[in-house]
Amino acid sequence: MAATYDDRDGKIWMDGKLVDWRAANVHILTHGLHYASSVFEGERCYNGKIFESVKHSERLKNSGKLLDMEIPYSVEEIEKAKYDVLKANGWDDAYVRVVAWRGAGEDMGVASSRNPVRMAVAAWEWGAYYGDAKMKGAKLDISKWKRPSPETIPVHAKAAGLYMICTMSKHAAEAKGCSDSLFMDYRGYVAEATGANIFFVRDGEVHTPDADCFLNGITRQTVIRLLKERNVTVHERRIAPEELEGFEQCWLTGTAAEVTPVGQIGDYTFEVGQMARDISESYEKLVRS
Ligand SMILES: Cc1ncc(COP(=O)(O)O)c(C=O)c1O
Repeated sequence: MAATYDDRDGKIWMDGKLVDWRAANVHILTHGLHYASSVFEGERCYNGKIFESVKHSERLKNSGKLLDMEIPYSVEEIEKAKYDVLKANGWDDAYVRVVAWRGAGEDMGVASSRNPVRMAVAAWEWGAYYGDAKMKGAKLDISKWKRPSPETIPVHAKAAGLYMICTMSKHAAEAKGCSDSLFMDYRGYVAEATGANIFFVRDGEVHTPDADCFLNGITRQTVIRLLKERNVTVHERRIAPEELEGFEQCWLTGTAAEVTPVGQIGDYTFEVGQMARDISESYEKLVRS
């Protein structure tokens, strides 16, 4: 059996210093554990350079602000912490996880302004998120849960609480032999997968849902830029579920997922076509350049 994530050799950055991997622990009365007062980032380091590292650190700071949880480290300090972790573990290619949360403190009720905001950075070697789907195309279930309204929760924060329905949806998907699940949003429009944004191709043009009630992924923004540089028309718009039938190609984008073609969503099928392959290749080149 592979080593569990709490039982490995290496170093983790925690509250300003590098500690032994197995000593990176928190108390059971940590506020974040009970009330989801926690935000995080997922990043990938390629050839010693974290792709869009500063953008990720800025998004983390912003996620904290959106949760009324000021992170007590500057973007520069977060940047240094990430590279310190990579160096301490000797990795040039790794996934980097930064997490900030309300710790244990004087408060144990819902309000927690007296509890310290803490931060940690861990990294590990992580291959393709969807295994061999990169070649074959991932198979997606359709979630029974909906991405919530911006009036319900801060939808643009990368916050732990927003992932509760992602975990449940992904479990349901895996039980059906799917790699992931597609969410509709609170209005019924196509939204995103549990940890990745979604794109479609029809008649040589690209369609992707407006990121108005979910994370506007850094990979999503990068892929839109790459497509526009190739003079491909990109429509960011509301997409009704009935439209899935007419799309020819589909792919997911995300730091972990990178660009992964999709072969099937529910009963709808897509070809792993040229545009999906091209954009996946261009993204791979870019992140390693
Ligand atoms: C729910 C969700 N949507 C979209 C994304 C894609 O974001 P990014 O491309 O910034 O990694 C992620 C991954 O972080 C995610 O977890």
